[in-house]
Amino acid sequence: MKEKKSSKSPIILAIESSCDDTSCAISVNGVVRANIVANQTVHKNYGGVVPELASRAHLSHIIPVVDAAIKEAGIKISDLNAIAFTQGPGLLGSLIVGNQFAKGLAVALDLPLIAINHMEAHILAHFIDAPIPSFPFLNLTVSGGHTELVIMHDYFQQDLIGQTLDDAAGEAFDKCGKMLGLPYPSGPEIDKLAKAGEIKFNFPTARVGEFEFSFSGLKTSVMYFLKRNLEKDPDFIHKEINNIAASVQDAIVKTLVNKTLKAAKRHQLKQIAVSGGVSVNSELRNQMINACGDIGAELFLAAPKYCTDNAAMIAMAAHFKYLKSDFCSLKTSAEPRLSRQF
Ligand code: KG4
Ligand code: ZN
Repeated sequence: MKEKKSSKSPIILAIESSCDDTSCAISVNGVVRANIVANQTVHKNYGGVVPELASRAHLSHIIPVVDAAIKEAGIKISDLNAIAFTQGPGLLGSLIVGNQFAKGLAVALDLPLIAINHMEAHILAHFIDAPIPSFPFLNLTVSGGHTELVIMHDYFQQDLIGQTLDDAAGEAFDKCGKMLGLPYPSGPEIDKLAKAGEIKFNFPTARVGEFEFSFSGLKTSVMYFLKRNLEKDPDFIHKEINNIAASVQDAIVKTLVNKTLKAAKRHQLKQIAVSGGVSVNSELRNQMINACGDIGAELFLAAPKYCTDNAAMIAMAAHFKYLKSDFCSLKTSAEPRLSRQF
């Protein structure tokens, strides 16, 4: 596909549909003018995202979300210079909705198409609003599907330092929350409950490589802990919910903070950024602020609306790709396991 009209200050329409949020954003020369997100509440009682229900909800949300973004940005559809979409990683059926919609729009408007890696976009969310980090910086991405530490050398050039061997940090919050009878996603619920609780229970941290993470052991230990205590007192969860939430949260957060700080010291990086849905967590934010203060590192935390899944981060990544004329062909399909070059 040819570029219709090259612009030095491109107006980009970006779509994110990798999991259970349908989002459309408009950026004008790298400034986000609209970022509309439609959440899917249909998964609340299933303890996780049901892929078939997610695809169906994306189909019904996508047109209203795109319409609302165009309205909010105050642009005409004929002003657009490019269409961007999340290519992966994510759920196939969810990704296909955004991928096909973006292709249709690009063909109809004769515009170039830009494919974005969701994980790169989570990191590039730090470039939406000031203060922005400068290269190189260390980034911890913590979401429902990923936990990884990378050194960012440039917008699309990074080294992987470590990642989770099993569950992601968000998954640990969600699975522990499910055992406590909390709705999905449980991360925000645990965050709220923990505010009125104390770190009363001790959950083990996994012994894995220096910069690797593992949260499946925590999940198992919470399961046996609850089983043991519920046998003694069937009302245990109800009585101790705040303290359990605070203790589980602390176990996850401590691991994330300790490993990130260790990696920053090892690689002599004085700028640390945290991205992904779990970076909204208030305890993670507090512990990171304190730990970075202790070593004199500068910390970058994006606004919560740019931490959880959103299309503004896709638009930001697309802006940097547009400037390099890094467009994709109409044959580019959704890739649930899309990887990156490290
Ligand atoms: O980045 P995200 O919106 O989607 C993925 O790419 O996975 O992250 C979703 C994850 C969920 O696991 C959710 O429980 C978690 O982020 N999360 C939180 C908080 N807000 C969202 N976890 C802990 N505390 C929060 N306040
Ligand atoms: Zn995400």
